[in-house]
Amino acid sequence: FLVSKGNRRHFMEKEIHEQPEVISHTLANYLDFSKGTIRANVTPIDFAKVDRIAASACGTAYYAGLIGKYWFEQIARLPVDIDVASEFRYREMPLSKDSLALFVSQSGETADTLASLRYCKQQGLTISSVVNVRESTMARESDAIFPTLAGPEVGVASTKAFTCQLSVLASLAVVAGKMRGTISDEDERRLVHELSEIPRYATQALKLEQQMEAISRDLSQVKHALYLGRGTSFPLALEGALKLKEISYIHAEGYAAGELKHGPIALIDESMPVIVIAPYDRWFEKTVSNMQEVAARGGKIILITDERGAAASTLKTMHTVILPDMPEIITPIVYAVPIQMLAYYTAVFMGTDVDQPRNLAKSVTVE
Ligand code: G6P
Repeated sequence: FLVSKGNRRHFMEKEIHEQPEVISHTLANYLDFSKGTIRANVTPIDFAKVDRIAASACGTAYYAGLIGKYWFEQIARLPVDIDVASEFRYREMPLSKDSLALFVSQSGETADTLASLRYCKQQGLTISSVVNVRESTMARESDAIFPTLAGPEVGVASTKAFTCQLSVLASLAVVAGKMRGTISDEDERRLVHELSEIPRYATQALKLEQQMEAISRDLSQVKHALYLGRGTSFPLALEGALKLKEISYIHAEGYAAGELKHGPIALIDESMPVIVIAPYDRWFEKTVSNMQEVAARGGKIILITDERGAAASTLKTMHTVILPDMPEIITPIVYAVPIQMLAYYTAVFMGTDVDQPRNLAKSVTVE
């Protein structure tokens, strides 16, 4: 089949803009918006009988899984072990037959993730996977498939597949919470409603495009960048750094904001931009104190927050990006949009091959 860029310069740009629509399709597969409930028969898996989730994935899909861990643990009180598949496959971790093996993959073909899947199968675990390609090997070899309906993703740097993976994982955490009795009917209605709002907020996030382009002009001048976040914004910081290095070749690192003082603070000087992902959530004040530590050393802060966060922080930043206030559960999905645009426009300013960055492949089918 042929996918076209339409009137966009790059597939990545097109795929960033498709997100409200594909997220909406993906969510509708799991949630019944009119009833405000999860759909019946979404999965053959009885989460009430699962004692832990053993998850693994590679690259961006791994970061989606890391965010999913926060949701499963918080909403469904279900512990999640997650590792990059290249480590998982050789780690010989003790696995119980009551654990659910969960794999996240856009292509469904990544060699290390597939090897982890086969390893878990050998150990007698139930196999489930969040995949974008329905006909893929991982989909075929899984007991339960949780599809993302992102459509074909062409840009090597994953964008819409990532936010669709997150949408599936958040929905599944609600499904698991319901089955395990850790959330009430009322919680379910509220969470389903909150998730149903993602496409609307993602559309609003896309309106930040001009500002993200302007910030990227500055970012394209630097050699290094640091991304910080707490809670679900921490794995998003890792993903932000990955996206930037993949396509702009600027060295970037993501860190849990609380780890700043255990290393990266040594790097902070006037030439170091620090992208802080900080919605006004339960971690906000803590992240602000980390920002103060950065500001005191002359670091240049690019703060991505919401209206309440912007009002609450009096710190001087180089740029402040303001999203609308939104429910906590959806922030990593919506905040992914400006994070992607930042990497995209920085790469455009650098003049790199955005859709086909050097040395990278869309699907890594060899070890
Ligand atoms: C490659 C791609 C990434 C992707 C990763 C995992 O590194 O460049 O964008 O996140 O593989 O791929 P998968 O298909 O398993 O999600």
